[in-house]
Amino acid sequence: MNEKTNMETAVSPPANTNVTQRVNALLAQMSLSEKVAQLAQIGGADWNQGPKPEEIIRERGAGSVLWLNDTKRFNEIQKVAIEESPSGIPILFALDVIHGYRTIFPVPLALASSWDPTVAEQAQAVAAKEARAAGIHWTFGPMIDIARDARWGRIVEGAGEDPYLGAAMAAAQVRGFQGDDLADPERVAACAKHFAGYGASDGGRDYDPVYLSESELRNVYFPPFQAAVNAGVDTFMSAYMDLNNVPATGNRWLLRDILREEWGFEGFLVSDAFAVGNLVIQGHARDRRDAALRSLKAGMNMDMASATYLEHLAGLVEDDSLSMAEIDEMVRPILALKVQMGLFENPYVDETLLEKTVALPEHRQAARQVAQRSMVLLRNEGGLLPLSKEQTNIAVIGPLADSMEATEGSWMVFGHEPAAVTVLQGVRAKLPKATVAYAPGPDINRDIPHPFGEFDMTKKKPIQAPEEAEVAFETAVKTAQSADLIIMVLGESADMAGEFASRGSLDLPGRQEELLKAISALGKPVVLVLLNGRPLSINWAAENVPAILEAWEPGSEGGNAVADILFGDVNPGGKLPVCFPRNGNHAPLYYARTITHLPESSEQYRSRYWDSPTTPLYPFGFGLSYTTFEFSNLTVSAEQVKVGEHVNISVDVTNSGPVAGDEVAQLYIHQKWGSDSRPMRELKGFKRLTLQPGATQTISFQLGPDELKYWSTNAGQWVQEAAKFDIWVGADSLATLHTAFEVIA
Ligand code: NOJ
Repeated sequence: MNEKTNMETAVSPPANTNVTQRVNALLAQMSLSEKVAQLAQIGGADWNQGPKPEEIIRERGAGSVLWLNDTKRFNEIQKVAIEESPSGIPILFALDVIHGYRTIFPVPLALASSWDPTVAEQAQAVAAKEARAAGIHWTFGPMIDIARDARWGRIVEGAGEDPYLGAAMAAAQVRGFQGDDLADPERVAACAKHFAGYGASDGGRDYDPVYLSESELRNVYFPPFQAAVNAGVDTFMSAYMDLNNVPATGNRWLLRDILREEWGFEGFLVSDAFAVGNLVIQGHARDRRDAALRSLKAGMNMDMASATYLEHLAGLVEDDSLSMAEIDEMVRPILALKVQMGLFENPYVDETLLEKTVALPEHRQAARQVAQRSMVLLRNEGGLLPLSKEQTNIAVIGPLADSMEATEGSWMVFGHEPAAVTVLQGVRAKLPKATVAYAPGPDINRDIPHPFGEFDMTKKKPIQAPEEAEVAFETAVKTAQSADLIIMVLGESADMAGEFASRGSLDLPGRQEELLKAISALGKPVVLVLLNGRPLSINWAAENVPAILEAWEPGSEGGNAVADILFGDVNPGGKLPVCFPRNGNHAPLYYARTITHLPESSEQYRSRYWDSPTTPLYPFGFGLSYTTFEFSNLTVSAEQVKVGEHVNISVDVTNSGPVAGDEVAQLYIHQKWGSDSRPMRELKGFKRLTLQPGATQTISFQLGPDELKYWSTNAGQWVQEAAKFDIWVGADSLATLHTAFEVIA
């Protein structure tokens, strides 16, 4: 092995040669040990065991450092890489920047509720700008796993249940993070994760195995990932779990055949944390050496944090289990990204930039607008909302009403201090003259604590004793009793959704529903604001609480955005990107099911369980407004088209109510027969519009081979078939305005 330790040989290539030449020049001067180090991502957090990043970097360099959020340290480590490592190759600093760096935006599930990809793009562009100013080059986002099981905690990180909406949100987030120039110093490299199928883990239990047919994968779970590739995403992360009994980290079919060969992805892949080493635990690899071999052979470029590549790849080359060409193939795209991002020319971050960047008022303003557009009005009986600003005596009640953590939500960057405007603060700011009383009621807690508690990612509070909880309950009811209007803020705390946060029930945790019932019994107007990272089964509220606003985890400006909507400065227009099941036992639940031989639409046979209806409490695509909309004149450009041709669908949308508002026109198709059964409905177009009262807008959609093809199990390939298609356009997945056309051979 040709170990090179002489610093004199360190050269960075001239800036003007093209990327491949520069990568070749670098590879030519690197020892095997250095090449292997480029395939390693090293944990930089205090709790990481083993050598400090500098020790490894000084000796052999490193591809990347993660779990560090400290601008000064970035520069210190970078200096070691540039000045002391053998080839002077800069480090890529990586961190999970999921929905904001300092200015926190709504969680991705909420971004998807906007049904406006420009909103997701804008949010991630601000996140990128702030993160880059801190010295971060690469984020582990977007998370684009389709999730149809609300018990799975990580549903909060993605765009929900639908591949078409999911693909649009995936591409938008990639554009937001990356922009269109890799060298842009206000952007970061993105990472499409977790490839693939993670959202379908058995029973919604995090990390459990996934069994998905090739047609499910290709028709439902892959489209957001392929959209990310088409949007130019720089990197991919593999998922943790076994996909059809092969761990995704060692899954050659996923990592090579699909991603590289079929889709033409040219960036690099990183494993999930410790996943390469964990192939041993998972029962796939015999030992860590075998894990490194299997993972690299499968196409995994970078080993996140497990040090398995660092320990074993050189030995595997030396005993001819791997060739140098295989190592070079893995290193190339990592070096290429560093070259393209301009890290050789500008490896350091200006340490004064962060505070100037995060303080920009336009970032808070953007966070407020994005939050407004993400919220979904679920119920508004008797037009209780919007509330009058003449209110003088309000009570804001609930354990999340003044929780900055719950408002900003899950997945904060390491060391982030929550600084959200809570709903309580938002209401007080909106009505400065009113009396706004507050009582949290009893605390809510996970039964099994979050493991990140140890790392102080969530603030720990002592568990309330039952007597204290009782006093808190009574105080909340009394506080509500003295008010004329009650705003209840209920849902889930930030550690109840996300990774390590799956649950079996979808009920409101703790005594929240009991408190809601007790306060509703006072006979005063009650508005329920939900802060949560997944659909909840709020069956009682859906029948008994007149107004319900789904605010999700709305970010730094969440409380202001809630107040803007409740008091009518903003008309809500978000729509659900997931069904709300009536019960956690109903999960997975999604709208795009196949019809079966006893359709649920048939009166007599529709029961699927005998103990409860299995329709969703709120369907996919659902959301109300302070105005009303009508859809009419649904037309299709041709009754028949040939395979490969397009049809145009047009529809009129009218604001038939009293105020301006937003509607999302949604187009669903159903292929009536074919080589496989097709879903009873599939989203194939959407458009969010703003309409003045009385205004009508005609909008059109095009359907062609891209929308009409599918992966057929029977045919074993992509097909576009001659068949009749039903079309519906309307305000949600239950839209009734219908037309049809036929595709002929
Ligand atoms: C584990 C998570 O599954 C993944 O989403 C995340 O990006 C990595 N850890 C790095 O923090």
